[in-house]
Amino acid sequence: MWFANKLPHLIWQTSDLVENHRAILQWIHDYPSANLRPPICLNVSQDDWPDSDFDAIYSANTAHIMAWHEVQSMFRRVASSLQANGLFCLYGPMKYAGEFTSESNRLFDLRLREQVAHRGIREFSAINQLALEANLILLDDHAMPANNRLLIWQKIS
Ligand SMILES: C[S@@+](CC[C@H](N)C(=O)[O-])C[C@H]1O[C@@H](n2cnc3c(N)ncnc32)[C@H](O)[C@@H]1O
Repeated sequence: MWFANKLPHLIWQTSDLVENHRAILQWIHDYPSANLRPPICLNVSQDDWPDSDFDAIYSANTAHIMAWHEVQSMFRRVASSLQANGLFCLYGPMKYAGEFTSESNRLFDLRLREQVAHRGIREFSAINQLALEANLILLDDHAMPANNRLLIWQKIS
């Protein structure tokens, strides 16, 4: 909703697991925008990714929720769903060389692991290695509010 209003020249195709579609549709209903599309079903570890080549793919707060094999799958599939020079933007908390960027992130990581054993804040170098293996080159790593990062990769043509 936020991006669709701020970047009206882009069409935003939302996606998520089907159980979260109702909430997304409610947001779209409450904050309508002509460039915002209703969600498509997308489980990153399944084969039914859309056929189209996207200009850019944005994923927020997902890498620490998914199992690692799903994060691996996300990078492989993102790369094949982008057109040449397309961008992948990943938002969320990261660790660097094993260190959390804040005490609150360390506590958040503990809570995540208590909830579900496969969850947890990911190591930047491991994430960037997945990107490299998928022919995605890191362009930027922006510090964001609340100790989050915005990582941006470009697909090598
Ligand atoms: C913490 S929520 C973030 C939601 C939203 N992107 C945001 O930032 O507010 C994590 C999201 O990851 C999605 N997710 C978890 N596993 C997934 C998978 N295997 N494929 C696709 N999405 C998944 C969940 O359905 C959920 O919407």
